[in-house]
Amino acid sequence: MTITLRDARILVTGAAGRVGFPIARDLAVPELGNVVYGAARLSTPGDADRLRAAGVQAIRRDFAGGGDFADLPDVDYVFHAAAALGVAASRDWQYAFEVNAQSAGRLVERYARCRGFVYCSTGSAYAYQGPRPLREDDPPGAHIGSYSLSKIAGEAVVTFASRRFGTPVTIIRIFSTYGPTGGAPADRLELIVRGAPVPLHPDTPNRYNPIYEDDYVRLGVRALEVAACPPVVVNWSGSETVSLEEYCTYLGELVGHPARFVIDASAYWPLWPDTTKMHEILGRTRVPWREGFRRMVAARHPDLLGS
Ligand SMILES: NC(=O)c1ccc[n+]([C@@H]2O[C@H](COP(=O)([O-])OP(=O)(O)OC[C@H]3O[C@@H](n4cnc5c(N)ncnc54)[C@H](OP(=O)(O)O)[C@@H]3O)[C@@H](O)[C@H]2O)c1
Repeated sequence: MTITLRDARILVTGAAGRVGFPIARDLAVPELGNVVYGAARLSTPGDADRLRAAGVQAIRRDFAGGGDFADLPDVDYVFHAAAALGVAASRDWQYAFEVNAQSAGRLVERYARCRGFVYCSTGSAYAYQGPRPLREDDPPGAHIGSYSLSKIAGEAVVTFASRRFGTPVTIIRIFSTYGPTGGAPADRLELIVRGAPVPLHPDTPNRYNPIYEDDYVRLGVRALEVAACPPVVVNWSGSETVSLEEYCTYLGELVGHPARFVIDASAYWPLWPDTTKMHEILGRTRVPWREGFRRMVAARHPDLLGS
């Protein structure tokens, strides 16, 4: 792992999550000399201990409910990954907008003079453009209902706050992370292991650019370093395109359960990013998809690997 950010104070929000935890953990390795704070509600037992064991100072914090964050420690960089996702976002759109948009704006205001602020947006904030890669200037859309809408709102609020306070910001549109801690490919792995069919959008092949943990840590840190005012907006994904059909077939071979598929008109449309701008600004990813998927299976189903 090559991390260039050293001797800095960094706040990672959502630090107990799939994206936030590996980033906080790797920034906190002692040889880098960073002081890393990890904020979340820490709602899962053991989260605070997991952060402390990684050298991250755990802060129990709910980003819903207002407040100006004056009590949070002064830092040089903020990686803002905390978000209302899944059921929390879909059952209450006002809650999703509070956590994912308004609170993000207040956090930029709190850290107006920081050296870099990353806002985690999503590839699901694009409208479907048919089977072609999604570019940063493509129009917004609601792939996942109020969650996507709240992230589009979050981008607007954060952009306003960046311009208002002169804060350097990078907005990363995240496309399908995966690794030992999970992600959409790990959810599909579970379907395959259970023998359940994997839903496919009718526009086959369903192309994605999944990004493995080692790469998203490196590109996440890079995103902090390139932040600018007005914000840099960039897709954040693996460099390689692979279809869901191809990677699920490979996962099925790894675990000894052949993948089955079902075309489903209600399946999510494929999120296929254009990586041109990402390669210019953040660089390329390094872990080939087959190696990443093998490592994910080794971490999550070591008993099945090669069975
Ligand atoms: N992983 C992906 O493929 C992907 C794709 C697109 C976008 N993203 C974006 O990337 C970011 C991280 O996602 P993730 O996959 O790591 O999700 P995750 O694993 O569900 O983690 C979310 C984190 O946010 C915290 N959190 C949730 N609600 C909170 C609240 N009200 N106050 C404070 N903390 C709260 C959670 O901890 P507690 O529950 O303990 O508070 C957890 O630490 C999110 O902004 C998400 O929208 C991820």
